[in-house]
Amino acid sequence: MKEQRDTTPVLDIDGLDVRLPEDRAGRPILDGIGLRVRAGESVGLVGESGSGKSVACRSVLGLLPAGARTSGQVRVGGRDVLAMNRTELAALRARQVAMVYQDPRASVNPLRRVGDFLTEGLRASGTPAGAATARALELLDAVGIRDPRGALRRRPHEFSGGMLQRVVIAAALAAEPALIVADEPTTALDVTTQAEIVALLGRLRAERGTGLLFVTHDLELAASVCDRVYVMYAGRIVETRGTDELFDRPRHPYTAGLLACTPSIAAGAPSPRPIPGRPVSLAESPPGCAFVARCAHAVPRCSEEKPVLTRHGDGLAACHRAAEGITL
Ligand SMILES: Nc1ncnc2c1ncn2[C@@H]1O[C@H](COP(=O)(O)OP(=O)(O)OP(=O)(O)O)[C@@H](O)[C@H]1O
Ligand SMILES: [Mg+2]
Repeated sequence: MKEQRDTTPVLDIDGLDVRLPEDRAGRPILDGIGLRVRAGESVGLVGESGSGKSVACRSVLGLLPAGARTSGQVRVGGRDVLAMNRTELAALRARQVAMVYQDPRASVNPLRRVGDFLTEGLRASGTPAGAATARALELLDAVGIRDPRGALRRRPHEFSGGMLQRVVIAAALAAEPALIVADEPTTALDVTTQAEIVALLGRLRAERGTGLLFVTHDLELAASVCDRVYVMYAGRIVETRGTDELFDRPRHPYTAGLLACTPSIAAGAPSPRPIPGRPVSLAESPPGCAFVARCAHAVPRCSEEKPVLTRHGDGLAACHRAAEGITL
């Protein structure tokens, strides 16, 4: 199911710059990020390591590296997270946005029972103990834990990585957040478990109308769960469009490169071709397009002038040559 419930953006990032104070000028990390997730929509954020996916995600919870300076806005439910005080941030994290990280073991206290982990937030917000337990059982059932009552008594080490990630997702759902941000939630899991977790996130999103921001470096995985995808390179969004069109007809050479290096098991599929060179950070990128040194289609203008996101097809691409309809 990929339909949208309504058009309210649960997340609206607009012109977000993030700089770290490494020297007096500050090291740029994100440059003009714009990203939107509507209620019930599943949105992918893809890009190579170091492109800024996690920093962008963490900004949604107001969790930026110490000393970071920002401009732009990160609106959740219409309110700017970057302007929130501590009390407002605590409420945002407890109720509106839930984060699921790569390693479920880093999210739970290994010494505490799963039942305590699942009910603590509910009890803190005034739910009586009996009702909190009933809700925890319901959530464990919703994420496919077979013996929810037994699971409440167990400790994290008694679960496999995949089962523990289900528990973390159950905890994320407890407050009925408007948005789930999942930062590579399946990278630490084997392929079969990965598919199950992805299916689970997709189902919960469809059933509950929760917005989902799904971060991965794996385009195939993004395609299986997302309606729309943003592609990041060196701290910038370089392309965004509906998943099907992104796969059928990418307009940015970086997106095409990512697709070409994604292995496919389809019969007759070409063997994967890696993108030449290495990814650069925003701080070390040239004045023009950050991808220029790795791009087979680059012309002199690409090194000199920064391409801006412009409409091509049903989405946006930041490439001087996107309008020429070059075959990627
Ligand atoms: N706490 C921090 N302090 C200093 N630099 C940081 C910090 N967090 C991130 N960075 C820098 O910001 C840039 C983007 O990092 P980020 O973790 O967002 O990348 P990513 O796309 O999530 O990569 P990966 O796929 O490896 O998770 C990198 O250059 C990284 O070194
Ligand atoms: Mg990351």
